[in-house]
Amino acid sequence: MQIVSIQGQTGPSDIAVGERIESLPAFLPSDARRVIVTDANVARLHRHRFPPAEVITIGTGEKNKTLESVAHIYRELIRLEADRFTFLVAIGGGLVCDAAGFAASTYMRGIPYGFVATTLLAQVDASVGGKNGVNFDGFKNMVGVFNQPRFVICDLNLLKTLPPGELANGLAEIVKHAAICDSAYFDAIENNVSRIDALDPACIEELVLKSVLIKSQVVNRDEKEAGERRKLNFGHTFGHAIEKCTALAHGEAVSIGMVLAARFSQQRTGFPPESRMRLTALLHRLGLPTELPTAPDAVLQALGKDKKRQGESVHFVCLERLGRAVVQPIELSDLSTFLTTAFDTA
Ligand SMILES: NC(=O)c1ccc[n+]([C@@H]2O[C@H](COP(=O)([O-])OP(=O)(O)OC[C@H]3O[C@@H](n4cnc5c(N)ncnc54)[C@H](O)[C@@H]3O)[C@@H](O)[C@H]2O)c1
Ligand SMILES: [Zn+2]
Repeated sequence: MQIVSIQGQTGPSDIAVGERIESLPAFLPSDARRVIVTDANVARLHRHRFPPAEVITIGTGEKNKTLESVAHIYRELIRLEADRFTFLVAIGGGLVCDAAGFAASTYMRGIPYGFVATTLLAQVDASVGGKNGVNFDGFKNMVGVFNQPRFVICDLNLLKTLPPGELANGLAEIVKHAAICDSAYFDAIENNVSRIDALDPACIEELVLKSVLIKSQVVNRDEKEAGERRKLNFGHTFGHAIEKCTALAHGEAVSIGMVLAARFSQQRTGFPPESRMRLTALLHRLGLPTELPTAPDAVLQALGKDKKRQGESVHFVCLERLGRAVVQPIELSDLSTFLTTAFDTA
């Protein structure tokens, strides 16, 4: 087990990689009331591992990443007479962590909380860094806060019950970390696809640890996303738009978004075509989609709903080479032209 720490403005956050959910009580203040928030799938598969606590369950899937789910958590907390000293633990994937982290950050102006991340995506990305929030009126992650969880437990044993597609979703964010920050990490992923496929525990632990280290280092330097943290959005400008107008999961949409961003980078920042092909091939080998499954018009329309857009431009993440990203203001009209032509020549 290894602890990676983030020093957030709202306090420190310790991410325990390789810790077991059975150790959760040791992370909780002994005298505080505990309330657990989870979703129906995680409750069905893992509730027997939860420590004694009141449990609030929210619906599954991105469609439930809403203020209604947050309101449900508030109502249950009120019904349970939770006060400012009640400790909330979210046990679940990115959806549970994002929604419950937001509820905990706002209920009675904020109660302490921690996460047990149960998907690969939540372990390597969503639970780390203190961004919590929900979607609103079709705008992705439109309402939220920066507020660090006291702790995050990444129990790799919980991943054994994940459907294969959910594993691939997490791998997309892992490839993202490598592509923007660390070419040796990219090489290592390429060289270990069969161990990843076989869910080799040592290999998965290395990936989770490496990705948590990369993300927490970036967050430690730029917690509120004024600069460097924007790099973590590589593939997400197109990815969020694709997520909105298709039935694809977050990681799948980001995978296609990264391929498109790599192609765009070829034109803008001289990203080498061989590197783009390596990126596409790796995502494909990891079981992720790499081609747009819908007409570009729908994606273009959804792009206009990106909350990160500033006027008619967005902070877009390009690659200069594998392991090195740059953020540039790009006109939406340029992305629109690119998408239309990329589609014609794809
Ligand atoms: N806050 C951030 O910084 C950040 C970063 C990346 C992604 N996200 C968000 O994370 C969300 C996606 O997270 P996700 O991919 O974890 O999705 P998710 O939470 O919806 O989980 C995916 C599915 O797996 C199920 N599940 C969870 N744990 C399981 C387990 N151990 N065994 C079997 N099934 C399990 C869930 O019930 C759900 O059906 C998106 O909303 C995305 O925007 C947030
Ligand atoms: Zn993401």
